Amino acid sequence: MRIGVPRELEPGERRVALVPDAVTRLSGAGFEVVVEPGAGREASFPDAAYGESGATLSEAVWDADAVAKVRKPTPDEVGRLGSGQVLIGFLEPLSDPAGVERLAERGVHAFAMESIPRITRAQPMDALSSQATVSGYKAVLIAADRLPRFFPMLMTAAGTVAPAKVLVLGAGVAGLQAIATARRLGAVVAGFDVRPVVREQVESLGATFLDLGIMGEETAGGYARELTEDEQRRQQEALEERIPEYDAVITTALIPGRAAPRLIPAKAVAGMRPGSVIVDLAAEAGGNCELTQPGEILEREDVTVVGLTNIPSTMPFHASQLYARNVSALLQHLAPEGELALDWDDEITAGACVTREQVAV
Ligand code: NAI
Repeated sequence: MRIGVPRELEPGERRVALVPDAVTRLSGAGFEVVVEPGAGREASFPDAAYGESGATLSEAVWDADAVAKVRKPTPDEVGRLGSGQVLIGFLEPLSDPAGVERLAERGVHAFAMESIPRITRAQPMDALSSQATVSGYKAVLIAADRLPRFFPMLMTAAGTVAPAKVLVLGAGVAGLQAIATARRLGAVVAGFDVRPVVREQVESLGATFLDLGIMGEETAGGYARELTEDEQRRQQEALEERIPEYDAVITTALIPGRAAPRLIPAKAVAGMRPGSVIVDLAAEAGGNCELTQPGEILEREDVTVVGLTNIPSTMPFHASQLYARNVSALLQHLAPEGELALDWDDEITAGACVTREQVAV
């Protein structure tokens, strides 16, 4: 089976779907990989490294049996795909139905990385988790960089410096990584989530669990259910009271397929100390903070509100390396012997598939 790896066209996207290591492993498992020249350059994987890994460097990536991408294809790219071809990538099935429709019209077998079920068997393919790990880590570095204070406690001849206080809202994959990273930098960290099981995970990382008196439930897929209007109002009020204690707040709260829950009202930002920082990892879904502008870093009431999007792309080497492992695992699942063998009764194959070729019977 031949796999094509195109250069990503989305502005600001620096990741690549397969890295040279993954090419070597796939080649050993019966796959042939064709990489578009320059595809890995922005992620620090030069063409020569792909050449050494056994890939063919060629522009002819779109007529492969399967095309592996990071971002969803542009309409032009969709036009280059044909019936029965496999496409893998972050296809945004919940927020871009028109894009999915275009793929369906072409008869493409499209697999969305974000639709892979969150089950133990599918963990090696879980790109939401691998990329959230990058985001959680980087969010803390951004906060530390923007904060006019140290993160750790320091005892120096010039006096003692108190450690920064960091609050992480939403303690899923990104949030837990943010907590661990902020702890490593020496901050005093608190975490909050609406899913009750998270308390223990937060505490095991050496952070305290912020008790706001609000607890939601976990749905069957392990995600949080959306809070009711009344619960949301109580959460905002409780946070408005507690947030001024913190120097940096990192927010990661998301409900799949919905706008991000509004956790931090503008009034709460006004109550923070000058110089404080909010890093809103939910910016792409509208933001957890009322003041967040997706893609922007702004100052309001002497507080920096970071709404940068696509944070994994700012660490493209490791983000691509992890993503490539997820893509390779999915490819090997769909083509166990290096030949496509799609089993529509399989939970992972059926769950990840967003469009498929309609075969007349
Ligand atoms: P996510 O990115 O959808 O959401 C991030 C966090 O925001 C979640 O922890 C969620 O509970 C929280 N949240 C939602 N509304 C909130 C609110 N109003 N206030 C505060 N927090 C709020 O979630 P993520 O990180 O993708 O993980 C979702 C779940 O899936 C987690 O339980 C995770 O452990 C689980 N998981 C399971 C895997 C498996 O294979 N079994 C693999 C990866 C994740």
